[in-house]
Amino acid sequence: MFKDKVIIITGSVQGIGKRTAELFAERGAKVVINSRTAAKVEATVAEFTAKGHDVLGVTGDVSDFEFCLELKNQTVAKFGKVDYLINNAGLAAKGKITDTQANVYEKMYAVNVLGSLFPTMAFLPEIKKTKGGVLFISSMAGIIGLPSYSAYSGTKRSIVSLAESLKNELVDDEVYIGVNYPGFTENDAKKEILSPSGESKVMIKRDDVKVEPLDKTVNKIIRQIEKRKFRSYSSYKGRALQTMYRLFPTLSLAVLKKNRRKIMDMQ
Ligand SMILES: NC(=O)c1ccc[n+]([C@@H]2O[C@H](COP(=O)([O-])OP(=O)(O)OC[C@H]3O[C@@H](n4cnc5c(N)ncnc54)[C@H](OP(=O)(O)O)[C@@H]3O)[C@@H](O)[C@H]2O)c1
Repeated sequence: MFKDKVIIITGSVQGIGKRTAELFAERGAKVVINSRTAAKVEATVAEFTAKGHDVLGVTGDVSDFEFCLELKNQTVAKFGKVDYLINNAGLAAKGKITDTQANVYEKMYAVNVLGSLFPTMAFLPEIKKTKGGVLFISSMAGIIGLPSYSAYSGTKRSIVSLAESLKNELVDDEVYIGVNYPGFTENDAKKEILSPSGESKVMIKRDDVKVEPLDKTVNKIIRQIEKRKFRSYSSYKGRALQTMYRLFPTLSLAVLKKNRRKIMDMQ
């Protein structure tokens, strides 16, 4: 199904984004690799090219609309069309609202919200031509606001609303829109997280929560696009949380209240 499809995955030099790009490329897709760091984009392109994949690397920040237009132009110049956009680039942050600097929120909303909206705006005219689609990578934290994760939860939930609006706006264009909710997934060793003061630190390996294997999360993403499903969860926990929150929002918040210390103390 993905042979010769042109797929852009933002933030695809490590972690979920890179592995998604790799599995699509193994299925014959032409993939576009992106991140803000030229050296990482170049290294990923070299790695993919050595494996015989058809790949384009474009370095830049997806929270900059002008860059998103450039990303679209370079994609169309090289591959002639666009089938799917996966809005994967995202930042993590942790800290209580009272301890967090305002610029952490600015960064988080810029990258996690505008960094999903702007590529979508830039690529939609091309995606309409192919009747392809756009997938937004949210999180279980986008289902309910977690204590100490207000910036992350707020931004990840915001893109769900964006996807819901788009889904119905684009019905007549037959463009697919989806939201994927990964659970805790094994991290790339280089994954970073913003502290309340705005410092970016390498995230320590999580041993206080059960993490999903990377390929499980990524295979869910690929299967979701294949089936053009609106929502998909990497684990049953995500689906259970969504169902519980929809049916019993007050009870869900009460359960979170009971577990707040555990959540706030997570690494
Ligand atoms: N891992 C998990 O447990 C988990 C769980 C739920 C949801 N998610 C979501 O899944 C997505 C991928 O997560 P991950 O753990 O694989 O993340 P990751 O290891 O931190 O990788 C994210 C990538 O995005 C790039 N990036 C960040 N800001 C960017 C920007 N403004 N423009 C372009 N690229 C940018 C980063 O590269 P540069 O720094 O070079 O730009 C980095 O390579 C994220 O949206 C995350 O919120 C992850």
